Order: sequence, then structure tokens, then C-alpha cells
Amino acid sequence: MSESNSIESVLHETRVFPPSAEFATRANVSGMESYKAMVAASEADYSGYWADLARKNIDWKQPFTKVLDESNAPFYKWFEDGLLNVSYNCLDRHLATQSEKTAIIFEGDDGKVTRVSYRELHGRVCQFANGLKSRGIKKGDRVIIYMPMSVEAVVAMQACARIGAIHSVVFGGFSSKSLHERITDAQAVAIITADGQFRGGRAMPLKPAVDEALTMDGCESVHSVIVYRRIGASIELDDDRDIWWHDLFNSQSSVCEPEWVSAEHPLFILYTSGSTGTPKGVQHSSGGYLLGAMTSIQWVFDYKPTDVFWCTADVGWITGHSYVAYGPLALGATQVVFEGVPTYPDAGRFWKMIQDHKVTTFYTAPTAIRSLIKLGGDLPKQYDLSSLRLLGSVGEPINPEAWMWYYNVVGQGRCPIVDTWWQTETGSHMISPLPGATPIKPGSCTLPLPGIQAAIVNEAGDEVHDQHGGFLVIKKPFPSQIRTIWGDPERYKKSYFPEEMKGAYLAGDSAHRDADGYFWIMGRIDDVLNVSGHRLGTMEIESALVANPLVAEAAVVGKPHDIKGEAVVAFVVLKGARPADAAAVKKLAEELRNWVGKEIGPIAKPDEIRFGENLPKTRSGKIMRRLLRAIAKGEEITQDTSTLENPAILEQLKEVVR
Ligand code: WT7
Repeated sequence: MSESNSIESVLHETRVFPPSAEFATRANVSGMESYKAMVAASEADYSGYWADLARKNIDWKQPFTKVLDESNAPFYKWFEDGLLNVSYNCLDRHLATQSEKTAIIFEGDDGKVTRVSYRELHGRVCQFANGLKSRGIKKGDRVIIYMPMSVEAVVAMQACARIGAIHSVVFGGFSSKSLHERITDAQAVAIITADGQFRGGRAMPLKPAVDEALTMDGCESVHSVIVYRRIGASIELDDDRDIWWHDLFNSQSSVCEPEWVSAEHPLFILYTSGSTGTPKGVQHSSGGYLLGAMTSIQWVFDYKPTDVFWCTADVGWITGHSYVAYGPLALGATQVVFEGVPTYPDAGRFWKMIQDHKVTTFYTAPTAIRSLIKLGGDLPKQYDLSSLRLLGSVGEPINPEAWMWYYNVVGQGRCPIVDTWWQTETGSHMISPLPGATPIKPGSCTLPLPGIQAAIVNEAGDEVHDQHGGFLVIKKPFPSQIRTIWGDPERYKKSYFPEEMKGAYLAGDSAHRDADGYFWIMGRIDDVLNVSGHRLGTMEIESALVANPLVAEAAVVGKPHDIKGEAVVAFVVLKGARPADAAAVKKLAEELRNWVGKEIGPIAKPDEIRFGENLPKTRSGKIMRRLLRAIAKGEEITQDTSTLENPAILEQLKEVVR
């Protein structure tokens, strides 16, 4: 499917699926009138609306008296003089009423299942928190978490929250260099990791990447590395620095008074790609962040205490923070945590797990859905999926074809789909159906949540009401939003609040609204790619390529891809001559792909590399990316090339080497 086809099919999408009477009757928000009433209430008294929700949802050690502080905009503060602890809100407060309820159903890559109750999880978090304290880790310290999906990863995050340490989870698929970049930027004092992880039946080491990162410059701040034993690999421990998780853990008491922090105390930093430079450390708050996660689960996932919730995201991404590590626990939910991959031992794994664990609410990414359709479109029919009542989608636009399959085959026409638009920076859902209220349309994330004022504006920041679309913005500050970029407040202002936007938050996506006011996300407006739901900066991949001694220059663009959404295409100019024969070109391309895998992580490996003697540039030396995008897609070049310095180069770059 080409991009133009998919946009066409979205623009012509006319199917509408209102919630069934059965779903709507039982829903937390039932019918559009209720939704509209909530929106009206939030508009009538904006900060009062959020303040009420914050009082209702969060247990405060000391209640807040201030709600929204805009005095130093865009550095907004919410509930600042309120004191709370996020881990207390996720664990302790459930103990009186449901200590034996299962908090986590963990399923390993090998299929082995372990259940952890709220009582046990609380005990483990306290014990590990005491372990962190015994290493001198304290409030405000930064701790890197580089772990596989596991109960321990959640324990590590919650334990940091308990003592007020600021965690930064680094996805286990990132390389030692990416890890190093994050350690030094955050000036972390400790790293929590594992010997390795199981994925698709294979044991893969993790600790060596930590060791490698720590040999590079700038890591002097790290005094402790805590290693959870998962795969039983023989690894080297540095006696002064490294300690096994179990050695640290076992000797500790399971009583740990939470550290009470201001609602504005940073809960975590999570690195994500921007259009320029190195990844940005998105800094989130404690109170406002928790509130966003909690309200969205009640509204969007229509949370019921009897639910079995399963969000398939890794805790290395924001989705795994808000909808695995924090949100479901804050509500006292039972959730599934999965170590493995959707295709092992076969493409029925997700469906089998939904059947086995009687999952009611299933939340995954379009790229997973598309790959599972391809590998076994009929497989869901072999499993009993009758426990499901709600499906969710996140990370990229879902094409109507995949949406219909998800709806009919997985949801059996019974389960609403919530297509949730949001970002690392927004912390929680922004635009999404409320499943008992909003009639849904395949491919649209529909309408903003109550209290979220989303709009589409032109380059001058003025709202546009026609259907041509423009930049997606959020006009008012909201509790769960990014507070700053760690260590770089100027970049925060420039990236998200450029002057033309008149104080609105610029999301970085383009979108349009249809006659019903529904939002349709069209894609990024910057040089950020969305590959299998992972956010990658073209600049980062270019920097990785030019760091290779053979490469003089590189330009990276995205091109539509059936499964991944977008594929990475790199145009490379070598320092020496281009290899003469096809086999040598192929070998070199493979070498460079692996190089990028080592520099950033396997998710960033280019799908295609094309070699040229030069890149198409304007006379002023600017790379003409729109031409490269057209070449990557295999389109005829119909664009104006009159400003091009070196037109002959276009022919050369059309050659593909996979
Ligand atoms: C970008 C944010 C949200 C958590 C996972 C990704 C794209 C996200 C949707 C959706 C269309 C979507 C946007 C956004 N995106 N959800 N439902 N429909 N596009 O978080 O890595 O910060 O990426 O993902 O382009 O800007 P992220």
C-alpha cells in the first residue's frame, strides 16, 4: 500500500460504528451527552475541573492549595504544594481492600506464568527501595533502568518512585552507545539491568552493553550497577561497582516509608527522538503525570475492577510507563506483563494469551496488528477470545484495513476500538474515543479527552476550520504534559512552544478534522520517522552513518512500508569510490546497516541503502529531502528541480540495494 493510497482510503472512510447499547449502558462514560457534559464542565472551570479530578484520584499526603501556575510559562506547574508518593498511590493504598488481588500476571518468553499480588508487589518494591537506599541512592538522583520486560522492571521503577529517585528507562534494544548517551546526559548514579533477556526462544545478553557503555567517557557519576539474573549467563561483576539484584534485595526489610515529594518532583526522564540533535530527555512530573494516566484509563479503557488489562508495550517506551508500570497499578487493576514477542512460538501467541488469561482489555500497536494479519489472518479464530470487551491501538495511524480486521476478527464485531493519539511528551492519551460514548470511524482517533483542548492551526498559529488540515496543537496546559527537557530548557521552549504558536503546545504532527470534528492524524511535520511504532530521528541515523570511517555524507528519509508503517532509506556518499560490482555494494550496505545497529540499536537499521557520488543539493548546499523522499518511494520526479545544483545525481540514486 503506497502512502497516497492509504491517505486516499482514510479520506474516503465513511464507516461509523456507534457503541452498542450493551457496552454504552455499562460504560464509565455513557453516551455522547455525558462526554459533552464533561467537556463543557472542563471549559467552564478549567483548573477547577482538573483539581477535582486530582483530589478524587490521588491520595495526597498533604493536599494542594495551588492548582495551575502559569507564571513562568511554558514551564507550567500543577498542584505544586501538594505532597504525594506515586508508589504509595500504586501500591499501599490498595492493601486495606485488595491485598490478595493479582497485580501482575507475568508470562515469560517460555510461557511460564507467575502471579504477583498487590501485597507481594508492595513488599518487593519496599525491599528493593531499601536496597537502593543502602547504596546511597536518594531523592533526586537519576537511575538508569535497562531491563527486559519483567516484574523486576516494574519493581525497579516503582522503587525509584518510592524513594524519589528519578528513573530513566532505556529500551533493551538500544545499543551501548545509545545507553551511554543517556547515562551521561542524565548524569546517572546507578544502573539497574539484567544479565540478559529471552526473546523468541533465544537468550540475549544485556549486561555487556552496560559494561561497554561504562568504559566510555563521562560515566564517572555511576557508582552502582545492579544486575537481575534472568538468563543465567556467566557475566563479570566489578566488585566495587556491581551487585546482583538478589544479593542486594534479600537482606533488606520489606518496610519502607515512602518519600513524600511535591507534585512537581520529576518522576522520570524518558529519552525520545526529535528532529535535530541527540535524543531529548522528556521530564515528567509526579502528580500531574499520575493523574493523566489514571483518568485516561477510566475514560478511554473504561476501567472496571474486574478487568484483566494487557498493554503489550515495553516499559522502555512511554506507553509502558503510563499503561504498564504506573496507570493500571494506581487503579488497582490486574494486568498482564509479557516478556516475549508476538510471533513466538507462533503468530497465535497474543491470541493464546488473551484466551489463557481471560484478557478483557487489549492494547497494542498497528504494526503488530499488520504483521499478525500477514502471518495468520485466521489464527485468532482458533482461540476463545470471548473475554475481550475493548481493543486499543497506539503509536501510529491505523489504516482502515487493519482496523476492520482488528474489529471483526479479534473483537468479533463486539469490542469498540480506541485509537489513542498521544506522545512521550503528553504522558497520557490526548485524543481518543471514549468507548461507551464516541461513535468510532476506522482510522480516526476521533475527539479530544475532556480537559484537553486540541486544535489544528496554520503556520501563523491561527486555527483552521476547513478540512485541509494543518499543525496539531494543544491550546491549554494540561496536568500530564512534559515539564522540560532535562538539562535543556531552551530546547524545550523552541521545540514545543515556538513563538508562532502563540503559547499553544506544538505536537509535531499534521492532522485534519472532518465534518464531525473528528481528528485524523496524517503524520509528522518534522524529520522524525515512525518505524514499527518506534520514533527515530533522521538526524540520529545520519550522524551514526557519518561516524563510519567510510562515509562522507548521508541523508535519511522514510518511505511507506506495509508492516512497519515507515521504512528507513539512507542515501550515502562514500569517501572513496563506489564499489564496482553488485556483490561488493551489497556487502558494504550490510556492513553499514550493522554499523547503525551498533551505534543506535537494531530498530534504527536502514531498510535500504543507496550509494551516490553526491546528494541532491540546492546551490546553497541544502540537501533536497523532498526529492530523496520521492526517489525512495520510486515515484517519478515531477517536482521542480530547477534549483538543483547537480541534476545528474538523481538517476544514480534510483538504484536500490537491499
Ligand atoms: C508520535 C509519538 C503515544 C505513545 C507511543 C508513541 C504518532 C502516536 C498515534 C495514533 C496516529 C500516532 C504521532 C506522535 N502516534 N499515536 N493513535 N495515531 N499517530 O509515542 O514515540 O512519543 O511518538 O507517534 O506521530 O507524534 P512517541
